[in-house]
Amino acid sequence: MGHGTVKQPQAKVNKQVPTTGSTHKHTGSSQKQHGGKPGGSGEKPAPPPKVAPGRTMGREKAIIWEDDNDVDFEDITFVVPIVISVIILLVFFLRKYIRWTVPCQSSNRIDGKTVVITGANTGIGRATATELARRGGRVVMGCRDRKKGEAVAIQIRTKTHNPDVYCYELDLASLTSIKEFVDDFNNREPTLHVLINNAAYMGPQSTTMDGYERCFGVNYLGHFYLTYLLKDKLRRGAPSRVINLISDTYSKARLNFDDLPLTPYDIKQAYARSKLCMVMFTSELHRRLAGDIIHVYGVHPGWVCTDILRNWPGVAGNILRTVSRVLFKSPEDGSQTVLFCAVGEKMREMSGKVLENCNIFKVKNYAKDREQCERLWNLSLNLCGLESDIPADKRDPGEKGPPAAVQDVGPREAEPKKEK
Ligand SMILES: NC(=O)c1ccc[n+]([C@@H]2O[C@H](COP(=O)([O-])OP(=O)(O)OC[C@H]3O[C@@H](n4cnc5c(N)ncnc54)[C@H](OP(=O)(O)O)[C@@H]3O)[C@@H](O)[C@H]2O)c1
Repeated sequence: MGHGTVKQPQAKVNKQVPTTGSTHKHTGSSQKQHGGKPGGSGEKPAPPPKVAPGRTMGREKAIIWEDDNDVDFEDITFVVPIVISVIILLVFFLRKYIRWTVPCQSSNRIDGKTVVITGANTGIGRATATELARRGGRVVMGCRDRKKGEAVAIQIRTKTHNPDVYCYELDLASLTSIKEFVDDFNNREPTLHVLINNAAYMGPQSTTMDGYERCFGVNYLGHFYLTYLLKDKLRRGAPSRVINLISDTYSKARLNFDDLPLTPYDIKQAYARSKLCMVMFTSELHRRLAGDIIHVYGVHPGWVCTDILRNWPGVAGNILRTVSRVLFKSPEDGSQTVLFCAVGEKMREMSGKVLENCNIFKVKNYAKDREQCERLWNLSLNLCGLESDIPADKRDPGEKGPPAAVQDVGPREAEPKKEK
C-alpha cells in the first residue's frame, strides 16, 4: 500500500535526527544523546539551538511534519469509514423523507367524467392522465407539442385499454392558442368535470407570445385564462373540480404588482412567484365558484423527479438533475394527491385549500390575503382582455362549510360503467 512506503523512511529520520525539545516526544532522545536527565549527576545538557520565536529549523520541520502525518494516517483509517457511513445514512433518511407519500386511498372510478389535464405528455401530468384513464375517465390532454402528446396518448390508451384519451394542442404561452383549445374543446365535449392545471415552465428568462414573463405567463396567467374560458363547461359538469398544481416554493416569493417582468430575473424567484399566484388563484377561484358547486384545490406534489429542471442551465442544473434522480419521488407518487382531489370523496370541505400527501397543507396568510387575491384576479382579467362575470362570493374564506346552495351536495359518486 502506498501509505506504508511513505511511513518507513520517515521512521528512519525520526531515529537519526536529534530534536530540540520543541515537541516533548523528542526531548527525551535529545536528552539521552547529551548525557542523561537534566539536573542529574552528568554534564549539563547542551542548550537548545537558538531559534527566533515563531521559526523552526529545517530538520525540526521534517520531524514535526512526520509526527503529524503519523497521527493523520491513523485517524483517517478510523474516521473515513465513519464519515462515509454517516453520509450514506443521511442520504438514506433524506431520501426516505422526501419520497414519503400518502397514496390516494379512493378506488372510485370516473366512468363518463371528462377530465382536462394541461402538460400531460410527461411527468406528473402523464402519470395522472394514465391513472384517470385507468379509472375510466374521458381524458383530454392539453399539450404544447401535438406530436409528442399524440404519441403519449396512444401509449396511455394501449396501457389502460381506455380508447377515450385524446390530445389537443395547447400552448399556455399564447392566449390565442388557449382560446383555440377551448373552442376545439367546446365543439367536441358537452361538459367538463375535472380541470387539472398542471403544466409549468421553469428556466431562463423568456417571455410568452403575449410578452409576459414566461413563468408568470405559462404557470399562472395561461391557466387563469383557460379556467375562465372553461367555467361554463365546469358549471355544466357540476359538482366539478379544478385542481391547481402549486409548489411549496411559493413561500419564497413576494408579488410586486408593479414589476411583472421581474427585475432582476432569477429562475427560482420567477417560478416561486408563479406558484404564489396559483395559491392566490386557488383561494379566489374558490370564493367565486363555490356557489356554482365547482370545488377548487391546490396541490403540492412534493419533490418529484420529472423534466421540470430540464431548462435549468449550467453546472447547477446538472447537479440538481442528478440529485433529483437520486432523492426525489417518482411521478406516480407525485400524482397521488392530484388523484385524491380528482376522485376522492368528502372533498367539499377542502375546497379553496392546498393539499400535500392527501392532507391539508397550511398556506401562509399573505398568500390568502383577500385584497391581494382580488387584486391579482382583476389584474389577470385585464392582462387577458376579459371582463369579470364571476362575482366574488362575499363569504369569509375562513368560514366553515359551503354556502347554502352547496350544502346538500354530497361526495361525487362514481357512475356505473357505460356499456360499449
Ligand atoms: N417536479 C417537482 O418536484 C414539482 C414540485 C412542486 C410542484 N410541481 C408542479 O407539478 C406540475 C407538473 O410538473 P412536472 O414536475 O411534471 O414537470 P414536467 O415533467 O416538466 O412537466 C411539465 C409539463 O408542462 C408542459 N408545458 C411547459 N410549457 C408549456 C406551455 N407553454 N404550454 C403547454 N404545456 C407546457 C410540458 O410540456 P413539454 O414537454 O412540451 O415542454 C410538460 O408536459 C407543475 O405545475 C410543477 O410546477 C412539480
